[in-house]
Amino acid sequence: MPRSAAPARPALDRVHQGDCLEILTRLPAESVHLAFADPPFNIGYDYDTYDDRRTADDYLAWSRRWMEAVQRVLRPDGTFWLAIGDEYAAELKVLATRELGFTCRSWVVWYYTFGVNCRTKFSRSHAHLFHFVKDPTTFTFNDDAIRVPSARELVYADKRANAAGRLPDDTWILRPQDLPEGFTADGDTWYFPRVCGTFKERSGWHGCQMPEQLLGRIIRASSNAGDTVIDPFGGSGTTLAVAKKLGRRFLGCELSDAYAARIRERLAAVRAGQPLDGAPEPLKSVPPTARGRRLRKATRRS
Ligand SMILES: C[S@@+](CC[C@H](N)C(=O)[O-])C[C@H]1O[C@@H](n2cnc3c(N)ncnc32)[C@H](O)[C@@H]1O
Repeated sequence: MPRSAAPARPALDRVHQGDCLEILTRLPAESVHLAFADPPFNIGYDYDTYDDRRTADDYLAWSRRWMEAVQRVLRPDGTFWLAIGDEYAAELKVLATRELGFTCRSWVVWYYTFGVNCRTKFSRSHAHLFHFVKDPTTFTFNDDAIRVPSARELVYADKRANAAGRLPDDTWILRPQDLPEGFTADGDTWYFPRVCGTFKERSGWHGCQMPEQLLGRIIRASSNAGDTVIDPFGGSGTTLAVAKKLGRRFLGCELSDAYAARIRERLAAVRAGQPLDGAPEPLKSVPPTARGRRLRKATRRS
């Protein structure tokens, strides 16, 4: 009697077009060091294939299924980072911790500029990044790999500043040169800066894709060279491109044929060891622009 062949194990170091639920079932259990997931937020965003308008119950049931699939493939010392919007942040955190048994190490708020401008509520200027681990005592966290210069060094040029820098806080601002215009009274991240006047403006930004520096911080902190990193929701392929640049093995899933094709092109154009896009230390490395100088002057006056 003919025996049916076992489903093929998906190859590493590429994106696979298809449903992450199906692709992840073909990965061996406990084989992945780090999963980063930026799923659709169920807010009616226009993807070319996926319909981002589910009922809340359906979205939550689906989230449980793909998170269980992630949990199965993660090693016992593995890490799971989840990016999510306000709409489902609370439910998905409870699902991950209370129902699936992950431990939440950090609830990071990523502050960003250029969100959608709102008129009858505060404009959204943040997303949530949950840092979950499977085992609360055994996990990878490379603090030395993600240190940032301290305010003592950057703002006050204080000679006593630790040259090794400090760990970032749990509100991440990847482009601090945007601060003078970024923290506005109508935004929903409220910040009252010290009068420091060192901010610079930098031009150039990627449209809808996540910044490489954000993924760089996550991948450097939560995995080591040669480890396997997966992204169930490839999008433009940022996680995979950064994993490749940082010398990790990687695997991505992407439902859309067209997006998957573009990810393949992006991956073909990057190589291990190449620097990440964006400035790692914007205050130090980005020259001031005329606009940035005007904003800094205005901040000093106010
Ligand atoms: C928010 S985007 C990810 C963006 C990505 N982090 C980046 O930096 O470009 C979510 C992606 O998930 C894809 N997607 C939705 N459902 C999927 C599924 N079941 N399996 C694989 N991909 C899916 C969508 O097509 C979309 O491209």
